[in-house]
Amino acid sequence: MPSVLITGTSSGLGHGVARRLHDLGWDVLGTVLDRADEDRVPWATVVCDVTDDDSVAALGLVVADRFRRLDALVNNAGIAMAGPWEELTPTELRRSLGVNLVGAMAVTGVCLPALRAAQGVIVNISSVSGQAGDPLMGPYNASKFGLEGASEALRLELRPFGIRVHLVEPGPFRTPISATGPIAAAKDPNGVYAEHWKVIDDWLSWHAESSADPQQCVSAIVGAVTRDDAPFRIPVGEGISDVVRKHAASVARQADAADAWLATL
Ligand SMILES: NC(=O)c1ccc[n+]([C@@H]2O[C@H](COP(=O)([O-])OP(=O)(O)OC[C@H]3O[C@@H](n4cnc5c(N)ncnc54)[C@H](OP(=O)(O)O)[C@@H]3O)[C@@H](O)[C@H]2O)c1
Repeated sequence: MPSVLITGTSSGLGHGVARRLHDLGWDVLGTVLDRADEDRVPWATVVCDVTDDDSVAALGLVVADRFRRLDALVNNAGIAMAGPWEELTPTELRRSLGVNLVGAMAVTGVCLPALRAAQGVIVNISSVSGQAGDPLMGPYNASKFGLEGASEALRLELRPFGIRVHLVEPGPFRTPISATGPIAAAKDPNGVYAEHWKVIDDWLSWHAESSADPQQCVSAIVGAVTRDDAPFRIPVGEGISDVVRKHAASVARQADAADAWLATL
């Protein structure tokens, strides 16, 4: 029976992926933040806060003890934090980077001996926000762009060991993330960033009520785990691959503009 560790399985995409892989006969271990969530599901769970060094080290011991060989790791745990650079505290920034970037890298680190033993696969859940920035999304963009860069490095680093690495880049899918994602504490709806906040607030309401069924994204994540023909980057959601293409074209145009400008120096 193949084995998988999935972080953040108490809700949303992580919960859906855990259920799907469990139904396919995988030996699933899912992390939860709250001990009360431990026994509510048919797969095995372990309490882990990916921002806590001791908690991640303990997770590594559980993985080594339970599996020895780990076929797949899905770094899914994440939070969405919004706020203007000017108003964000360093603590808020560290929280966003701590969960979405450092947490994923730390969990990967403790799982690598078991992943190497199985020549396993790592699927990092990024976002379309790991490809293109938006006003007030700096803390989230920073964490997901960071995850993208780190995953490019990891993919090359682990190639000699036969370990696949993938980035899934979801667009908006209806999960609790828009309702529970922390917003910068200093939010001032009447301040100088009011226009931007209005866009974010409208978007969050739309996300909570009308964004896409998460099952499409669950299928993409499960496909990245189970199929060795999966591409490295998987933008998923309506129009999301076009957002990625448009952004890549804009970066290429910026490089052309830089070449032309540098030639004038
Ligand atoms: N839904 C979307 O539209 C969307 C779009 C792009 C990317 N994503 C990405 O998809 C992933 C899953 O998000 P989701 O939409 O399914 O949201 P979600 O339902 O809120 O799930 C996030 C999960 O992460 C867990 N988590 C949060 N902080 C953690 C920590 N410090 N340590 C361990 N676990 C922690 C949460 O645990 P608790 O429930 O116990 O707090 C929850 O299980 C995230 O990486 C997110 O950035 C989602």
